[in-house]
Amino acid sequence: MISVTRRETFSASHRLYNPELSEAENLELFDKCANPNGHGHNYVLEVTVAGEPNSNSGYVIDMKKLKEVIRREIISRVDHKHLNYDVDFLKDVIPTAENMVKAFWDILKDKVGDARLQSIRLRETENNSVEYKG
Ligand code: NI
Repeated sequence: MISVTRRETFSASHRLYNPELSEAENLELFDKCANPNGHGHNYVLEVTVAGEPNSNSGYVIDMKKLKEVIRREIISRVDHKHLNYDVDFLKDVIPTAENMVKAFWDILKDKVGDARLQSIRLRETENNSVEYKG
């Protein structure tokens, strides 16, 4: 089993805020991430798929195709967007990196050809990242 990883980047804004909590509780829970007008991140997305190399191509997956599917299905829908308001598949969730990788997984899981989606890592800052393995 061989895994291959494609890295893409996007920039987006969000606000961490739970409408079921009071303003004070949101401030306590999310601190400056609850800033009313949001804040931005330069996200780094790493999508890893696994499988055996194809006998014709020698590829687990054609990276050009993986790049295209990530850009079409994810990047074009989140880049330069406000994640709380502009992204249909993040409606009704708090746009934490955790909720984002789960949503990305559901979109990509059946779109990686013969390979198997193995993990999605989202880096929100240089020091913070989350990983989802389905
Ligand atoms: Ni943030």
